[in-house]
Amino acid sequence: MTQFDLTGRKALVTGGAQGLGEGMAQALAAAGATVMVADLQDDLAAKVAESLGAGHASTHLDVADEAGWEAAVSETVTQLGGLDILVNNAGVEITGLVTELDPADVRTMLEVNVLGTALGLKHGLRAMRPDGAAGQGGSIINISSVAATIAFPAISVYSATKSAVDRLTRVAAMESGKLGYGVRVNCIYPGLVATAMGAGLANDVAELGLFGSAEEAVGAVVEQTPAGRLGEVADMADAVVFLASDASRFVTGAGLPVDGGMGM
Ligand SMILES: NC(=O)c1ccc[n+]([C@@H]2O[C@H](COP(=O)([O-])OP(=O)(O)OC[C@H]3O[C@@H](n4cnc5c(N)ncnc54)[C@H](O)[C@@H]3O)[C@@H](O)[C@H]2O)c1
Repeated sequence: MTQFDLTGRKALVTGGAQGLGEGMAQALAAAGATVMVADLQDDLAAKVAESLGAGHASTHLDVADEAGWEAAVSETVTQLGGLDILVNNAGVEITGLVTELDPADVRTMLEVNVLGTALGLKHGLRAMRPDGAAGQGGSIINISSVAATIAFPAISVYSATKSAVDRLTRVAAMESGKLGYGVRVNCIYPGLVATAMGAGLANDVAELGLFGSAEEAVGAVVEQTPAGRLGEVADMADAVVFLASDASRFVTGAGLPVDGGMGM
């Protein structure tokens, strides 16, 4: 199992205060990494960092804010002693039919999911490349979604932002390789997980009348999933550990479905 060992690696996880990000922070720490938990929710982020044990830390970060990225990356490098792993996990989903789209909601999803991931790539690559503040290369994992690979009702713009995350991943991986940054860049496409976001979506589509109830919506997702169940936080977290570790050393520019086969 040594290829999965992250001992000595320093990781920054955005949106790490709850849900998938919290699970990713826990899994990275369990594999040996020291983790900076970055989120808008300062108290929850601090609690997660504390639960990971000594040496781990938390910081305030709005991923749509460039100055925030500069500060968070610099704090990670200074406080943790480097930056080898960045998980661009923070994201928002605002459910709505195409005919009812509110431009403010569209902008929020573009800002957090697309701009937030793009800024993470920018500042992560700058720090990790040979002339960067951390300078040791590394691995960046972006969190896309099965929504980028299927058509599910009432999440048109969210799905579009997750397709954008997929493309950002590929181009960043290409630039990193061509310019000798020594940073692998990959993304995962999680299937539905019953986090605040996932459970909220099931409720929203039921309220919109697309399914008889939230349970029916979940049942329809499970029905479309060859593995026959919803995703769990640990399913996503373990895939992130794999992509962060040397076990995936020849994997870059890839999108890994972690969806029980739903998007095949
Ligand atoms: N839960 C699912 O079913 C599912 C499926 C596919 C993809 N995803 C993706 O996984 C990621 C995590 O989802 P989740 O289910 O844990 O969601 P969640 O809503 O439970 O947690 C999201 C976290 O991101 C933080 N966040 C939101 N906006 C932020 C910002 N601007 N800056 C910093 N932090 C911010 C929130 O405070 C929260 O802690 C998201 O990118 C989401 O799109 C989730």
